[in-house]
Amino acid sequence: MEWTTERRYRRYEDWTREEKQAIQDLMAKSPWHTHYHVEPKAGLLNDPNGFSYFDGKWILFYQNFPFGAAHGLKSWVQTESEDLVHFKETGVTLLPDTDLDSHGAYSGSAMQFDDKLFLFYTGNVRDAEWVRHPYQVGALMDKEGKIEKIDKILIDQPADSTDHFRDPQIFNFKGQYYAIVGGQDPEKKGFIRLYKAVDNDYTNWVAVGDLDFANDRTAYMMECPNLVFVGDQPVLLYCPQGLDKSVLDYDNIYPNMYKIGASFDPEKAKMVDVSELHNLDYGFEAYATQGFNAPDGRAYAVSWLGLPDVSYPTDSYDYQGALSLVKELTIKDGKLYQYPVEAIKDLRAESEEFANKAQTKNCYELELQFEKDSLNEIVLFADAEGKGLVLTFDLAKGLVTVDRSQAGEQYAQDFGTSRSCTIANQATTANIFIDNSIFEIFINKGEKVFSGRVYPHADQNGILIKSGTLTGTYYELDYGRKAN
Ligand code: FRU
Repeated sequence: MEWTTERRYRRYEDWTREEKQAIQDLMAKSPWHTHYHVEPKAGLLNDPNGFSYFDGKWILFYQNFPFGAAHGLKSWVQTESEDLVHFKETGVTLLPDTDLDSHGAYSGSAMQFDDKLFLFYTGNVRDAEWVRHPYQVGALMDKEGKIEKIDKILIDQPADSTDHFRDPQIFNFKGQYYAIVGGQDPEKKGFIRLYKAVDNDYTNWVAVGDLDFANDRTAYMMECPNLVFVGDQPVLLYCPQGLDKSVLDYDNIYPNMYKIGASFDPEKAKMVDVSELHNLDYGFEAYATQGFNAPDGRAYAVSWLGLPDVSYPTDSYDYQGALSLVKELTIKDGKLYQYPVEAIKDLRAESEEFANKAQTKNCYELELQFEKDSLNEIVLFADAEGKGLVLTFDLAKGLVTVDRSQAGEQYAQDFGTSRSCTIANQATTANIFIDNSIFEIFINKGEKVFSGRVYPHADQNGILIKSGTLTGTYYELDYGRKAN
């Protein structure tokens, strides 16, 4: 069935029970479901949204088109968690059902005010001529999960932005609420605008100015900007679409990047002494990463393990996308580290010394140590012939490479089948999380990260050590042991 505009934007209530059941039946047949990563209950999952702490629980929504593997009429679907590892869907959804969000409840953030959770998002509206009107709008969710929309535009499209103006992130800086929104100026260059809540009223926003983060002005749109604080240091996570590769090379169709500042000056909308640009993730897919500061000040982030404008092998089962593990952000020696939260260790069940394994359930964590000067080649998702996801840790050359060209179903090949990053030639560790069709590799406890999808063939479930001077532990992971 072709994904025409009409089909993508068909109203939710017009999909029949039978059509919805057919999607469920097809999805259930997929061999690639994840065990401990959030996947869509139906259809397509993209950005993480509304990541927050509310009423004693962690709240995390995802962008969803529930009727197949397509980007259509979007809503938010809620999950909640007590440990940032086990997430369950609650049935709460933010639907595209008003004049201010009729063509999609697009991405945004959340923050508790009094006993309600304020959801700040982009109402994507198309008029009769199919002209887009991006409205930054809000809703209040109570502790029972009842959502009431605020019936006014909180931030309208500025005169100096095209219709690409979206993804508001609300944050608290020293007791004052601010928001940033990604946009595109009339010269088709991306910018990020800073707003301030007048008297801390989340329904009353004034522009402070364009965020000064030494924008190189090569990107045409900044999607999903997030400012989080690690101590006093602002970290800007954002997706500069079309970023010129001479600024920083990347292989994915769209990059997710970051910059760190020494401090933040809200009056000047400035990240002071801002760093150069860095790739947030060296893998094949990590996008629209959403960060937020928890009430205790810790900075957390979660990514969409998928990319816009890419077809995935699960499309034929009517679904697509997953969320990454939740990562805590820290800064060491001026570098950003991203590492799963401590509670991830609760998934560890049986453990054994790392060695070749003819068969696994493709649901495990590896904790590996490599010696200085060593060359290590490991195949995960390996079949009997040793074909699979090839990881090379070449310390002498200072290079880590992940090659998925022989791992299962191939897709997005136009963007290359391997990824690499540099590392120092010194004792190095890697924690590798495998979840049936996901890998997340954290080098030196999060100094460098590779995330991505693989869609292995049925017989690709072994581990093969081709060469190496390494030691390590294999942990089988069990999500069910401590479900909340
Ligand atoms: C990023 C994005 C956002 C937008 C949302 C729509 O993937 O394009 O900019 O709000 O997805 O689903």
